[in-house]
Amino acid sequence: MRRPEIKNPDFKTEESLLLKQDFNELITENRNLKKLLLKKKTELEILQNQFSRLENLAAIGANGATVAHELNNPLTIICVEADEILDFLQEKTISPDVLELSAQNIKNSSQRMRSIINHFQTHCNETADKPLRRQNLTEIIKKSVALIKPQLEHKNIIISLNLQKDLPEIWGERSKLESILQNLLLNAMDAFLTITDKRQKQIFVTGKVQDNLLRITIRDTGSGISQGLRKQIFTPFFSTKKHRGTGLGLAIVAGYVKEHDGQIHLNSEVNAWTEFILQFPLERRNGHTHENSGS
Ligand SMILES: Nc1ncnc2c1ncn2[C@@H]1O[C@H](COP(=O)(O)OP(=O)(O)O)[C@@H](O)[C@H]1O
Ligand SMILES: [Mg+2]
Repeated sequence: MRRPEIKNPDFKTEESLLLKQDFNELITENRNLKKLLLKKKTELEILQNQFSRLENLAAIGANGATVAHELNNPLTIICVEADEILDFLQEKTISPDVLELSAQNIKNSSQRMRSIINHFQTHCNETADKPLRRQNLTEIIKKSVALIKPQLEHKNIIISLNLQKDLPEIWGERSKLESILQNLLLNAMDAFLTITDKRQKQIFVTGKVQDNLLRITIRDTGSGISQGLRKQIFTPFFSTKKHRGTGLGLAIVAGYVKEHDGQIHLNSEVNAWTEFILQFPLERRNGHTHENSGS
């Protein structure tokens, strides 16, 4: 007897349903994996960013311990002064003069802490890796000068620009080049802090191409820098300005100049003048990421 043919009309449907189900599960799993991957990628980027910040701290020659030490000094002064005020208040023997001195010390120390933190915050923002672009130094110099112009006028300091026409653009990061210029200009302005004679307070900024290098010079007729100090001024936290200075400016400048394959030179005559000369190559060595669009 012929066996009746077993029809399984549902088999295919069932199989395809199962397959469909598997497929949908795979898609959901894939989506979840993608989400997880994205999350991990973001976490990794954050870590990388933090790591590069630490590296950049090292790039200016500072480390966590030095930073902590530099923040700890003014913090100690704040605590000591606050304690003294409290003691005096308890004994009710405080004279306005002593109170004023303590308050001034607290203010100076807090200001120093704030400027150290501000410097680092700016430095951390600037050090996030950005592609190099062609940068117009004429624009950057003019912008940096415009920023401090009101302060210069207030202090009777005359600034003169002598920039070669059509100064060629260089490869670089705008925020770092701005930081270099601003730090050097601020230092030139501060070079008159201790000047009490009647000299002409002047800052000259020149820009030209020489020997296939872009040369920017910032010269002031201020206090000058002694031979002994010249070795120390690029060290992080070295400052002769007491609570006014962080001593981070030139360390950051030196780091950024190096990153731009540039060089910084210093000439000075004590109590007469100082000039910082920046030299940048017009073209970069290989191995740098370039982006062809303008700034
Ligand atoms: N143009 C200048 N003229 C005289 N001294 C300068 C000049 N530029 C820098 N210096 C010296 O270098 C030191 C370090 O400068 P910097 O790193 O910018 O720190 P800061 O300005 O906070 O003191 C200054 O305290 C100062 O003694
Ligand atoms: Mg400075």
